[in-house]
Amino acid sequence: MVRARHRAEVSGSGEAMGGVNPYLAQRAVPVAKQAFTLRIANSGQTIAVAPEQLPFGRDGRPGSLLDILLHHGVRVDHACGGVCSCSTCHVVVKKGLGSCNPADDAEEDMLDTAPGLTGQSRLACQCVPNGSQDIEVEIPAWNRNAISEGE
Ligand code: FES
Repeated sequence: MVRARHRAEVSGSGEAMGGVNPYLAQRAVPVAKQAFTLRIANSGQTIAVAPEQLPFGRDGRPGSLLDILLHHGVRVDHACGGVCSCSTCHVVVKKGLGSCNPADDAEEDMLDTAPGLTGQSRLACQCVPNGSQDIEVEIPAWNRNAISEGE
């Protein structure tokens, strides 16, 4: 295993899920219930996330980093459509990782195939902040063309 895992049971909320892989048994993760900011370290862009707007209904788990980033025009590669079947949405959560749902086995397995893996790496489509902390993410260098296209 490349990185330390922090696993815990993810409590189900019964909320409808978007971006679900029918071949994975994944529990629903509640969307954030309080306001927080999401800063993209590469560009300095900061997104104010209002919980009443979540989820945005984009790709990935509802309320995930991918859901939020795509809604705000930040292009992040997501080849599988946000269903935890690739590693192209890899981001490094530099701040606020403790406020996000823990990575499950399927995410960890996909992350192991991601280039530039760090101990703070997550799949943007699977990482759902709970809003208790502000978040800062870095989108890896190999994905920076996508960032510049979105600005
Ligand atoms: S978009 Fe494929 S795993 Fe996130």
